[in-house]
Amino acid sequence: AKVTAFRRALLGWYDQEKRDLPWRRDHDPYHILLSETMLQQTQVATVIPYYEHFLQLFPTVQALAQAPEDQVMKAWEGLGYYSRARHLQQAAKQVVQDYGGQFPRTAAELRQLSGIGPYTAGAIASIAFNQPEPAIDGNAFRVFSRLFKIDADIAKPQTRQLFDQLIRQLIDPKRPGDFNQAIMDLGSSYMRAKDPDPAHSPLAAFDQSYLSDTVMDYPVKSKKKPK
Ligand code: ADE
Repeated sequence: AKVTAFRRALLGWYDQEKRDLPWRRDHDPYHILLSETMLQQTQVATVIPYYEHFLQLFPTVQALAQAPEDQVMKAWEGLGYYSRARHLQQAAKQVVQDYGGQFPRTAAELRQLSGIGPYTAGAIASIAFNQPEPAIDGNAFRVFSRLFKIDADIAKPQTRQLFDQLIRQLIDPKRPGDFNQAIMDLGSSYMRAKDPDPAHSPLAAFDQSYLSDTVMDYPVKSKKKPK
């Protein structure tokens, strides 16, 4: 019952308030891979024009697979972290050569593609293919650690499992992609890192850190010791 109320509060808010973003116009896995790759180290407002331009140049996974590498790099110019672009084109080649141009649908298979880690695999599986897979990035760590006052150190690799298990119990099996994207929107608004506003969050009633006035204690993240 509590889980149902949580989902309803989150998705009801998302239906009303979700950000209108170009990669939310369809569920094409190529579009989701491209947007999630660009968004990994770059802000939404910066990504939008690059995303639109990139798809004009390379409208399909086949077009990207066949493109000369220097054209791909030129389309990435200004975004930085150029290894993202090289991995993206390599993943496109894998989809074309190993899967006949049709993206695999499971997170496990998606993770075999170049440059695709657990976060991106979960995002594509949930958003493009409606699979109940968590998509855990820094936003999700922050949002769930605050909601449930999770003290585990998010800098430790093992901590991902804990969040993964928790989110699997909460994710809406009917709308997993929207569930994950609603968490992203909360993480960039009411539950942002700096100057959050948890009192007005749609999940305020479920937010254990807000209810105990300890929001800024989360997430717990150790720093590497200086050598
Ligand atoms: N950040 C990472 N992925 C995102 C998405 N799908 N929508 C909005 N912000 C994001």
